[in-house]
Amino acid sequence: MSSTNPNVKMVDSHTGTATTGHEWDGIQELNTPLPRWWLIILWASVIWSFGYVVVYPAIPLVSSFTTGMFGWSSRGDVAAELNSLKALRGPMVNALNGATLADIEKDPKLLTFARAQGKAAFGDNCAPCHGAGGGGSKGFANLNDDDWLWGGKLEDIQATISFGVRSGHGKARDGSMPAFGRDGILKTAEMSQVADYVLSLSGLPTDKGFDKAAGAKIFEENCAACHGPEGKGDMALGSPNLTDKIWLFGGDKASITEGLTNGRGNVMPAWVDRLDDTTIKALTVYVHTLGGGK
Ligand code: HEC
Ligand code: HEC
Repeated sequence: MSSTNPNVKMVDSHTGTATTGHEWDGIQELNTPLPRWWLIILWASVIWSFGYVVVYPAIPLVSSFTTGMFGWSSRGDVAAELNSLKALRGPMVNALNGATLADIEKDPKLLTFARAQGKAAFGDNCAPCHGAGGGGSKGFANLNDDDWLWGGKLEDIQATISFGVRSGHGKARDGSMPAFGRDGILKTAEMSQVADYVLSLSGLPTDKGFDKAAGAKIFEENCAACHGPEGKGDMALGSPNLTDKIWLFGGDKASITEGLTNGRGNVMPAWVDRLDDTTIKALTVYVHTLGGGK
């Protein structure tokens, strides 16, 4: 095949299809027409797109866009849905606004609603530190148990959430554990004695050669003021009960010694300026009913 005259229509003898007239090394290019179904879909799409542009927002302009015949927008849809949700929740939200914490816990319907609101707010604001279900982790209080650092009554929990712990807020829960080692208050040997004494308070194994009387004396002189003469803690100071086998920072000698050396005092932010009253109320009720509220 050598003719490349474009005016002569060449037909491939094998398939009976016209060729384009292009040829490479004896291979000719067929000029196969587009399938009919493909063309139908193409033209249907083109027609559809004209309709779409007329009806829906479509073409960007300098500072806005064509809004379409009916002025529909997805944002408008969301706003309408939010409004109907608000209308649905309105009476419950109002009831929650006006209710005291005790009222809420007495009214099963309001309680269910408050817990749901509280749970959502907890996921958004508290879970990063306390865990999704409030289970806590080292240094971050477990909110599921009935062991409270700062008190488990509704008012206590509300105050902790509102003002935080060592948060710098004027009404924050305050008071930290001194750094006995770093500040040279206790010697290494004394810290070891008193750490063993702390372990003995909850019946945990102590080092060989532990002198209980010596440990007790160090405890009485240095620790009892905050943790109580028997080590049962003091919620007014946020000093944990050391006899209950529930540990904020770990119940092994290394963790206890680390705390004695460097002190303890973890921070929880204040929420009073970040969340509204109703949300704090819902959170209080949620936390109170989570584990063992008092
Ligand atoms: C940045 C981390 C952080 C965030 C966020 C946080 N907390 Fe805390 N929270 C703590 C720490 C740390 C403690 C323990 C304070 C201590 O050691 O005395 C604590 C303690 C508490 C306590 C006291 C527990 C007890 O035993 O008395 C409550 C109640 C509490 N948090 C609720 C909340 C709620 C509700 C939120 C969300 C609005 C929240 N926390 C968000 C870090 C956080
Ligand atoms: C000024 C008050 C204060 C004194 C004195 C004090 N503590 Fe504490 N202690 C605290 C506070 C507050 C915490 C909790 C810190 C926190 O929540 O972040 C704590 C935490 C602890 C913990 C961690 C408990 C846990 O659950 O993980 C241990 C152990 C402990 N103290 C032992 C001692 C010993 C032993 C002494 C004496 C040598 C002592 N403390 C003296 C206030 C005090």
